[in-house]
Amino acid sequence: EADERTERIEAALETLGDDVVILGHNYQRREIVEHADFVGDSYQLSVEAAESDADYVVFGGVTFMAESADIITDDDQRVILPSMEASCPMAGMAEALQVDAAWAELTAETDETIVPITYMNSYADLKAFCAEQGGLVCTSSNAHEAFEYAFEKGDKVLFLPDKHLGENTAHRLGIEDETVEWDPWDPEGTDAAAAVENDVVLWEGYCQVHERFSADHVEAVREEDPDANVIVHPECRREVVEAADVVGSTATICETVAEAAPGETWAIGTEIHLTQHLERWHPEVNVIPLCGDACMDCNAMRQIDPNYLTWVLEELVEGRERNVVEVAPEEKELAQVALDRMLEI
Ligand code: 13P
Ligand code: SF4
Repeated sequence: EADERTERIEAALETLGDDVVILGHNYQRREIVEHADFVGDSYQLSVEAAESDADYVVFGGVTFMAESADIITDDDQRVILPSMEASCPMAGMAEALQVDAAWAELTAETDETIVPITYMNSYADLKAFCAEQGGLVCTSSNAHEAFEYAFEKGDKVLFLPDKHLGENTAHRLGIEDETVEWDPWDPEGTDAAAAVENDVVLWEGYCQVHERFSADHVEAVREEDPDANVIVHPECRREVVEAADVVGSTATICETVAEAAPGETWAIGTEIHLTQHLERWHPEVNVIPLCGDACMDCNAMRQIDPNYLTWVLEELVEGRERNVVEVAPEEKELAQVALDRMLEI
């Protein structure tokens, strides 16, 4: 069945030729990654989308990535997401309307300038909101530079939606004492007036996959093999990041393992599909999952089933565009500003 599907995908791609480019995020299943023209992290995929002149960008990834590709590509290019069910739960944790209301509360409490930074893992309307307020987008590979940009432009940062990436970045910049988590709807939590006394205000969002890694996982790996190296994604909790040897985006994780000496052990603290790809790509390195048998699987990424890839490609061959992701024009222009600011830093 898999062979037949591969043949169908290859046949469709041959017919479509240069009209189609397939981008695959590092967390995609093997069957998607093997058909991708380019595999990478969120930042690299947005650059690839911007540089591509294919009529159709078929995106192996989640909704917010496809939206960003639509914003960045030309108006006559179409972005296709094989399954519309592929939505990152973290992106849904900061909706633009909620943020708008919270922003009003926060800005009412200070005369200083707050610059909002939204992680790429957010929807286009939130990116547009950030651009309107003088802010920008960042990914896990440039959060540090985005903070520096924000502190040049203003006095304080509101970081959305991932509190862990925000906290880990603040820690790297040495401003963790001036950082606070803020949930505007928690009656027991910090109120807006107290939150805004800090330099960095962290929105209460997180990745359900990465939050499950713990310092115990790191300890268990080191107990088993004191020479093991541990690399984790910055969406992990701070205690995990601090216990690790290296922290970085999925591209950094790939590069680090590619440069490892034969026989070295690397425990990978991120989504399980990437760990499995690295095991295949670098058999000379001892690649192991940081979490042992616990399954750190991203359900959103998993929605991109190879059968759906076959379907959207075969439909394109027939001249039918399925699952086109289109950002509303009024949001597109502003969201582009926030993305451009990121691409420039
Ligand atoms: P990267 O930008 O590191 O590829 O991460 C994207 C993501 O969704 C991590 O969970
Ligand atoms: Fe979203 Fe986490 Fe999945 Fe990344 S791994 S797409 S942040 S749910």
